[in-house]
Amino acid sequence: MLHLKLPTDPRWVGIAEMQIEDILVDHAYCEQKAASSCISLIVRYSDLDYLVDTLTPIVAEEWGHFERVMDQLRKRGMKFGKQRKDEYVAKLNDFVKKGGSRMEQLTEYLLMNALIEARSCERFKLLSKNIQDEELQKFYYELMISEAGHYVTFIDMARKYHDPEKVNKRWQEWLEYEAEVLKNMELRGDRMH
Ligand SMILES: [Fe+2]
Ligand SMILES: [Fe+2]
Repeated sequence: MLHLKLPTDPRWVGIAEMQIEDILVDHAYCEQKAASSCISLIVRYSDLDYLVDTLTPIVAEEWGHFERVMDQLRKRGMKFGKQRKDEYVAKLNDFVKKGGSRMEQLTEYLLMNALIEARSCERFKLLSKNIQDEELQKFYYELMISEAGHYVTFIDMARKYHDPEKVNKRWQEWLEYEAEVLKNMELRGDRMH
């Protein structure tokens, strides 16, 4: 359903579980970035009513996720701390087409967001199915459902605001690029992506 071209290396979940504090910190920042990215779109495309009205509740939802990740950290006596370098998102940013019309730019942002949601969803599923901590299993299961919904929302929105055929073609390019990025990234247990 997520159409990702490369499944996560099955070793990832095992090493992530051993570094769950790092994973939770990185995850908190993922939620912060998801909320921030929606806010940026709302400000940039304030004339698009459907976009504004659809993304506004998603900001609240992502911020709710941030709060829930923070609760998980606090109840385990873990430290939050500074944001780490996000190589995955930086690489995806490199693929955003510069120039083009305002709506073509929007397509790029929406597809990049969709992709991050899809990959997060896949990783949350792996965590929910494989880690020992029962509370975190349930936690990641619930978040997986929510991010899957966001993934669909972003893709559908891209098809609403731009020629769906062009969007589908570009989506395939994004999927292939993302698979290449992951293939070339070091496997590490302290990052969600
Ligand atoms: Fe989220
Ligand atoms: Fe999300």
